[in-house]
Amino acid sequence: MTTLRKLLTTCLLLVGMGAAATAWAADNNLPNLGQENNKTVVAKAALKKDAVCTGCHDESETAPVLSLYQTKHGVRGDVRTPTCQSCHGESDKHVKGDPKVKGRAAPDVVFKKGVYAQTGDKERSEQCLTCHKGTKRSNWDGAQHQNNGVACNSCHQVHKPADKVLSKKTQTEVCYTCHKDQRADSKKLSHHPIEEGKVACSDCHNPHGSTGPKQLKKNTVTETCYQCHAEKRGPFLWEHQPVTEDCTNCHSPHGSNVAPLLKSRAPFLCQECHDGPHNSKAPYGPLVGGIQNGLTGTTTAPANPNSSATARACQNCHVMVHGSNSPAGAYLHR
Ligand code: HEC
Ligand code: HEC
Ligand code: HEC
Ligand code: HEC
Ligand code: HEC
Ligand code: HEC
Ligand code: HEC
Ligand code: HEC
Ligand code: HEC
Ligand code: HEC
Repeated sequence: MTTLRKLLTTCLLLVGMGAAATAWAADNNLPNLGQENNKTVVAKAALKKDAVCTGCHDESETAPVLSLYQTKHGVRGDVRTPTCQSCHGESDKHVKGDPKVKGRAAPDVVFKKGVYAQTGDKERSEQCLTCHKGTKRSNWDGAQHQNNGVACNSCHQVHKPADKVLSKKTQTEVCYTCHKDQRADSKKLSHHPIEEGKVACSDCHNPHGSTGPKQLKKNTVTETCYQCHAEKRGPFLWEHQPVTEDCTNCHSPHGSNVAPLLKSRAPFLCQECHDGPHNSKAPYGPLVGGIQNGLTGTTTAPANPNSSATARACQNCHVMVHGSNSPAGAYLHR
């Protein structure tokens, strides 16, 4: 009990979140009750409610449940905060016993398989969504995770003081347990600084579902990339159609052995869409060094190596792959 009292004091100190609470209430489907409620009264009532469970479940458990009080779900002076029963259900039969069940009946909602069987994924998530069906999760229903048996607590660890998935530095540990391909990609020569903790999966994806493809945060790939690479948006006098269409026409966002994050190198990259005589197949350039090498494919005397195939290949001349403002014309020059 002394531990509980200590926790209560700590919790009360943690309460100082008026403005944050207002913003949070707006973003989630909870009423904003303001900061005027009597926090001590609220906290005492909440702890009393918890005591139904904490009388038996305390730090002595193999998985210490009271560390919940060190998280945002443990701010007992805040009326929005869940009690044990908001997540696990009233669990009357578990507490009082069920004559029909040998031994102790299971609580209403079991998040993780232990002595009792795990509750279904949809039902587990619904428990959380009673409070969290805000804007960020408005596309949860029908999204890839929801549809494939992934529940809120497949990613979130609510009884742990630090929920790994919320920190950029540790988030990938959670995602990689299921997404091995992306882990493999992140080890490639060229990659976003994800391992370094500067970019996180959730910078590009909303793991709670989105209106874009592949759970992307924005409606399109390009909009997602422009968040950080705004300079690629232009506007350009001469746009390059595949760039405005979809960056992944040329880039692999999770990693590649061809820097910078390219699907393949020029000239091959370019020739996936551009064929015809103006390419790298003619082995030599024109006799007099010029720009028309490869264009005619009818050079008479071998002179310069075909500049479409050497060094930076097509990019020897077409340097402004993402779009150009050159007065010289639409050919992606500087
Ligand atoms: C009278 C004692 C008692 C009370 C009160 C009690 N429990 Fe339990 N609970 C147990 C026992 C015993 C187990 C079996 C597992 C164990 O030995 O820890 C258990 C198991 C659980 C488990 C599953 C743990 C696992 O590893 O599978 C959850 C979740 C749980 N209780 C939640 C609650 C909640 C929520 C409340 C309050 C509504 C509550 N309990 C009240 C005694 C109690
Ligand atoms: C915000 C929702 C939430 C609240 C509040 C909550 N729990 Fe849990 N509880 C969970 C989830 C989710 C798990 C599964 C383990 C995990 O993912 O961290 C869990 C697991 C457990 C377990 C099983 C041990 C384990 O780690 O597998 C017990 C016992 C338990 N909770 C008891 C309690 C008690 C007692 C309280 C109140 C002090 C409480 N829970 C409050 C969501 C909650
Ligand atoms: C009774 C309402 C309620 C329920 C049920 C509930 N939460 Fe919360 N949750 C809150 C409140 C209140 C906060 C604190 C918000 C704040 O301070 O901004 C919070 C915060 C969070 C956060 C952010 C934590 C942080 O450190 O920033 C996560 C993640 C979260 N909840 C996940 C869950 C999951 C997963 C479940 C279900 C297992 C769940 N919640 C169930 C009310 C609830
Ligand atoms: C696939 C992993 C994953 C699943 C499943 C998941 N989350 Fe999250 N959640 C994250 C990540 C990553 C963040 C941090 C980045 C962000 O804010 O989008 C986060 C942030 C949050 C936050 C705090 C920030 C905010 O959005 O308000 C809450 C609350 C939350 N999740 C609730 C939930 C609930 C409720 C569910 C189940 C319906 C759920 N999450 C399912 C990965 C997940
Ligand atoms: C418990 C396993 C699990 C975890 C953890 C998990 N995912 Fe998933 N994820 C899945 C499953 C299953 C699917 C749907 C099947 C598929 O496309 O692979 C999916 C689908 C996706 C998709 C959409 C794929 C598509 O083809 O549309 C994205 C994006 C994604 N996850 C990102 C993440 C991110 C980011 C995290 C970490 C924050 C994460 N996932 C954590 C299991 C998981
Ligand atoms: C820089 C933005 C960005 C980051 C960071 C990012 N992704 Fe993606 N992800 C994308 C784009 C764009 C797509 C869709 C295009 C594609 O298929 O390559 C995608 C697709 C996916 C898919 C669907 C499968 C596929 O390849 O089409 C999964 C799963 C996925 N990402 C998981 C993750 C995980 C896990 C992380 C963190 C390790 C992560 N992503 C980080 C941009 C990103
Ligand atoms: C959250 C911000 C963020 C988003 C969103 C983002 N990037 Fe990046 N990108 C970065 C950072 C940071 C770097 C590393 C810059 C550096 O090292 O100077 C980078 C580097 C790159 C590089 C160069 C890699 C190299 O090896 O030099 C490419 C190409 C790239 N991003 C493409 C994309 C594409 C395509 C998307 C959309 C799918 C995208 N980025 C979305 C932040 C982002
Ligand atoms: C037609 C192929 C193609 C498309 C489509 C494309 N890129 Fe690139 N990108 C390249 C090439 C080639 C390079 C290497 C340029 C160099 O070597 O100078 C590059 C380099 C980059 C770099 C790193 C160097 C720099 O210029 O900053 C970033 C960041 C980048 N691209 C972002 C994007 C974004 C964002 C999109 C979508 C809006 C996109 N790219 C679409 C071909 C493409
Ligand atoms: C995914 C397909 C695709 C890839 C890959 C691609 N392009 Fe393009 N490119 C196009 C399309 C479509 C156009 C516009 C249609 C047209 O005028 O032929 C275009 C136009 C051009 C133009 C002419 C601009 C104009 O307005 O007439 C040049 C030069 C060019 N691309 C160079 C390159 C180079 C260099 C690469 C490799 C770094 C490359 N492209 C990769 C699809 C692609
Ligand atoms: C030596 C410089 C040079 C190299 C190398 C080069 N180009 Fe060009 N390219 C030009 C010039 C200059 C034009 C403008 C048209 C003209 O003057 O004939 C052009 C025009 C184009 C056009 C638009 C006209 C058309 O033919 O459709 C495309 C597409 C193109 N180049 C793609 C490529 C690709 C793909 C490569 C690499 C395989 C490449 N270029 C290599 C200089 C070059």
